[in-house]
Amino acid sequence: MTGRICGTGFCVPEHVMDNEELSRMVETSDEWIRERTGIEKRHIITDETTVSMAAKAAEQALEDAGISAEQVELILTATISSNVILPCAACEVQKEIGAANAACFDINAACCGFLTAYQTAQAYIAAGIYQTILIIGSESLSKLTDWTDRGTCILFGDGAGAAVLKAGEGESFRSILHSDGSRGEALTCSGRHWKSGEEDTGFMKMDGREVFQFAVKQVPEVIREVLELNHCKLEEIDYFVVHQANRRIIESVAKRLRTDVRKFPMNLQEYGNTSSASIPILLAELRRNGVLKKGHRILMAGFGAGLSWGAGIADWGI
Ligand code: UT7
Repeated sequence: MTGRICGTGFCVPEHVMDNEELSRMVETSDEWIRERTGIEKRHIITDETTVSMAAKAAEQALEDAGISAEQVELILTATISSNVILPCAACEVQKEIGAANAACFDINAACCGFLTAYQTAQAYIAAGIYQTILIIGSESLSKLTDWTDRGTCILFGDGAGAAVLKAGEGESFRSILHSDGSRGEALTCSGRHWKSGEEDTGFMKMDGREVFQFAVKQVPEVIREVLELNHCKLEEIDYFVVHQANRRIIESVAKRLRTDVRKFPMNLQEYGNTSSASIPILLAELRRNGVLKKGHRILMAGFGAGLSWGAGIADWGI
């Protein structure tokens, strides 16, 4: 048995902050941000929350899959920016959407969160424990952003994406996740309530160059690794759905793999880096726009805080 994605959905906040608005807040420019990252705007929460966006994305995904909330057996919510510490976001989503029969827990794996949820769901399905699983990536990164730090505030955005996985027949693929905790200092966030000292603002802190170099090296490597593990050729992949952090990172990955960059769809220009939500938002958009079609083979790849990185292959079944 393998888990097939049979429905997707996404939700982003209404408020849009473009680069011009940001350049009135910190010393930067629309030109610099576009050139160095590809980002043009990001959506930022006002009344929305991590849970409200997750619930909307989940409802869309359930409708797309044609299943009721009561049929969901497990909800996995990947997030680093939940509304509260307890209860977990997945339980709050359960309450919002009325998925009364689901077990629920959150996953904290930063930008690899959705991939980690996907791999966890596949493991539950392969073990025969659950057949219908809802996986979500949802973030309100604007709450964890230092809006005076131009090195980070230009990058991040808020939003949520969701997918329904159902057990079915067909080729099954093994995903790969890696972590290197010894490099964790490159991207940290102690949280607004957990400041470790006067110097610590509790906001996200990042060594951008180090994360950039890590990504352009590890992402092509893990893509080759997951292809080899599953006896799959690079040419067999129709689309590479890579974590939307920076256009230059994605272009570099495509170049290193000697693959046409048009096989690497991007929406970071519209949403910025939404961490665990970036892959499922992109999947849902590609489905909605009719780019992803039944029979397409996709490869998802993520990287981020931890440091962690990984990749997984899926045959698109809807
Ligand atoms: O989800 C995973 C998490 N994070 C990432 O994937 C981020 C990966 N890293 C990046 O995307 C890039 O490193 C950044 C976009 C964060 C920065 O781009 P960069 O090309 O690596 O710039 P840099 O940090 O090497 O800085 C180059 C220059 C510096 O000035 P000097 O020292 O050369 O005079 C910076 O002070 O650009 C300056 N700079 C800026 N200038 C205008 C840094 N940020 C800005 C800014 N606007 N926002």
